[in-house]
Amino acid sequence: MWRNESDTADAATSRMRPRRLRRFASASGMARETRLAVADLVLPLFVIEGRGAVREIPPMPGHSQRSVDRLDGEIDDVGSLGVPAVILFGIPDRKDFQGSRAWSADGPVPRAIAHIKRRAPGLMVVADVCLCEYTDHGHCGLVGSGDGGPEGQGRILNDETLPLLARAAVAYADAGADMVAPSAMMDHQVGALRDALDTAGHGHLPILSYAAKFASAFYGPFRVAAGSTPRFGDRREYQMDPANAREAMREVQLDVEEGADAVMIKPAGAYLDIIRQVRDRVDLPVAAYQVSGEYAMLKAAAERGWLDERRAVLESLIAIKRAGADIIVSYYAKSAATWLRDA
Ligand code: PBG
Repeated sequence: MWRNESDTADAATSRMRPRRLRRFASASGMARETRLAVADLVLPLFVIEGRGAVREIPPMPGHSQRSVDRLDGEIDDVGSLGVPAVILFGIPDRKDFQGSRAWSADGPVPRAIAHIKRRAPGLMVVADVCLCEYTDHGHCGLVGSGDGGPEGQGRILNDETLPLLARAAVAYADAGADMVAPSAMMDHQVGALRDALDTAGHGHLPILSYAAKFASAFYGPFRVAAGSTPRFGDRREYQMDPANAREAMREVQLDVEEGADAVMIKPAGAYLDIIRQVRDRVDLPVAAYQVSGEYAMLKAAAERGWLDERRAVLESLIAIKRAGADIIVSYYAKSAATWLRDA
């Protein structure tokens, strides 16, 4: 409880001395309120087609696009560090208007899933479900004909996109994914996936919904990594306005009602208040995605010697945890696991 005003007047003479415990606590770790564990972390991986291919992603030093046969190093690292899960993004050789490589059984993600589950059966494989990496226009859904948006730029069709997302989710489930994570921000995508998965005999498969996904400048490096920068317009007709917290609660509530098993907030660092509010309202596990731009900022400053990388990264992750996230998707998952192990 807060003291009232007359009490605070006595603060100078209070016998309370927070520093008394601090030296002891910081040395022992005792009474620490929040702990980051390796078990909280999920590592994103970018999978391309072909063989023997590793392509560095310039704005994300330390991360590469890899063909399925070049994933083993990452899989083994993650396994030996104890990082429990990876989330997969596929980048196809051929993109088309509907993003059909998203659900091809021989597309990058289904092949990667099958490969990883063979090599490391205990590693949880989450498959991101979206079309933007697979469409030639770079949007997360089908583009309507006609005048559409304000500049006549065509609109992204919602309900027509749902069956395509559902098809991709079923393809990943068929390939052996442990969880699917729809990120297209189409209305009712969670319900559409749930119905399709149940019908296809994947009733047991959980959905991690990107429930509150903001239209963020921090996705910039990812779009380089995925070749998914929209050819026209931007994603603001389906991703959320960064100014809106109440709307985020509606998005989360809808996804919970549609059967989401866990909900994600994205990005993380600039949205800690949203994470906290969701945590306070929802009993489901809450995930947060420390996105590519957050990684790039920390990396760039660290490379210049302007930040102590280890301390800054662990601080950014503990803040996400403290805000209320149970699960943290981060490009720093491997480094953080190493630092936590050696701590
Ligand atoms: C796909 C998707 C995006 C990210 C995750 N899933 C990109 C986007 O919406 O443009 C971003 C991840 C990151 O920046 O690390 N829809």
